[in-house]
Amino acid sequence: MFSNPFKFGKEVTGQYFYDRDEAFRNLYRKLAGGSSNVVMYAPRRYGKTSLVKKVLGRFSAEGVPNVYFDLNKADSLEHFCCEYASALYAVAGKGSAALDAVGRYISHLHPTVGVGKDGTVTLRLDYGQKMTATSLSEVLDLAERIASDVVGKPLVVAFDEFQEIGRLSRDMPLEGVFRSCIQSHQNVRYLFLGSKTHMLKRMFGDKARPFYKSAATVRLPKPPEGESLAFVTRRFASCSIGVDETDAKRIVAESDNIPYYLQQLSSLVFDEVALAGRDWVEKADIDAAVGNLVAENADYYQERVSLLSPAQRLVVSALAHEPVADFDEAYRERHSLGGSSTVHSALRAVMNAGIVEREGRTYSIGDPFLAKYLCESPAEVTAVK
Ligand SMILES: Nc1ncnc2c1ncn2[C@@H]1O[C@H](COP(=O)(O)OP(=O)(O)O)[C@@H](O)[C@H]1O
Ligand SMILES: [Mg+2]
Repeated sequence: MFSNPFKFGKEVTGQYFYDRDEAFRNLYRKLAGGSSNVVMYAPRRYGKTSLVKKVLGRFSAEGVPNVYFDLNKADSLEHFCCEYASALYAVAGKGSAALDAVGRYISHLHPTVGVGKDGTVTLRLDYGQKMTATSLSEVLDLAERIASDVVGKPLVVAFDEFQEIGRLSRDMPLEGVFRSCIQSHQNVRYLFLGSKTHMLKRMFGDKARPFYKSAATVRLPKPPEGESLAFVTRRFASCSIGVDETDAKRIVAESDNIPYYLQQLSSLVFDEVALAGRDWVEKADIDAAVGNLVAENADYYQERVSLLSPAQRLVVSALAHEPVADFDEAYRERHSLGGSSTVHSALRAVMNAGIVEREGRTYSIGDPFLAKYLCESPAEVTAVK
């Protein structure tokens, strides 16, 4: 009895990780070269976090200190400052010398060391009444101070889901504060990542925004299809299960060659094969796995769709049937979408909701199984309450 050779959910490493050689080299070179900060974007579940952690692992192995910080994990500005300062404190080597140094740099935040329930050492900061831009700047500048004065070498900082910083404060212009601190840092190389690609693109590409043109852009595409096929075949083979090329191609196609869905679908196909007690994959296993995936998610999908406005539902349904680059008149007529401005505001909303993604120039439903659900239940989708 073999355990399931596929993994999905959290970022993956080792044998569960494939390809990305080119993307890895590109990102590594840009960060190691150090001529500018880098912004990397791709839709959710393309493997950004996995790739970045692999690159950071390489930096660690080379003795380059680094920090990974997921902005989704911070629920307030205070929380962000505490967690980020703690991560930098860890880079500084923890211990009393590090605390002395950190204490000097952010002295009016009175850092003290606390130990969490799980034994992790964290910094506690005292903001007084309210977090101010000065306090935030001091925490952000801590990275440069630690790089230049404590560890004495350049530091790499990766901010994942960076588009979320806006969420951390209503009354402080956070993008401006971040930008003005970061641009003065000589010894820290920043990597900004995000899944809401249109938000991130606007942040770095809009002249009126503080981060305008402040980082080299890297787009993480889907993996080369051949690599995905080889991965599926290799992982099944590791459990002595055979999969012929047509079926491997079918798995890649059904999952839109998106790493998360590829692993999720393959994992369910493995369950089908194991249940049947076979040591090869059949088309029926793939069909059953796809059917199960759509059925298992149906309640969740239905709920998501029910929250959409009628115009948004129509756009989503149209894209499920026919991904498109240009919502021209013929397309809008074919799918009864109405006027161009209605379509574009609906499109913006469904992109912000993470339902529709833009890959290259083409808009499509991000989750291939949601697309299938939408095509299979048109009445529910278009019904207007
Ligand atoms: N290089 C890879 N090889 C195999 N599977 C991957 C790879 N990258 C991502 N995945 C799959 O996709 C899932 C999501 O990866 P993650 O790195 O969290 O994506 P993102 O950060 O872009 O949302 C992982 O749990 C894994 O199943
Ligand atoms: Mg991620």
